[in-house]
Amino acid sequence: MSSTGHYVRAVPLSEVPPGKIVGVELEGKKIILSNFDGKVFAVSGICTHEYYELALGFMIEERVVCALHLSQFDLRTGEVFNPPAAEPLQRFNVKIEGDSVFVEV
Ligand code: FES
Repeated sequence: MSSTGHYVRAVPLSEVPPGKIVGVELEGKKIILSNFDGKVFAVSGICTHEYYELALGFMIEERVVCALHLSQFDLRTGEVFNPPAAEPLQRFNVKIEGDSVFVEV
């Protein structure tokens, strides 16, 4: 995980409740946010198989399922679980300041 980026304000924390995938675009990067046990995670919002937005997919437990060919990725780590995608999603650092979610891009 790179730490050379800078933090950009993404959304208010209240917009990332548990059980929801939130798609954002930060400095041209599509990113999806999720919340597990009060901790917010950010991974790339584009499937590593083809160019398809994972924010259009759906959630199963801690995974996002790509709506196009059903590869699943861990929303916390980016790990890929099943083909056709073979590469993990990029993961981004997240910090909470006040009531806002910041992502390191
Ligand atoms: S585009 Fe996501 S699995 Fe094919």
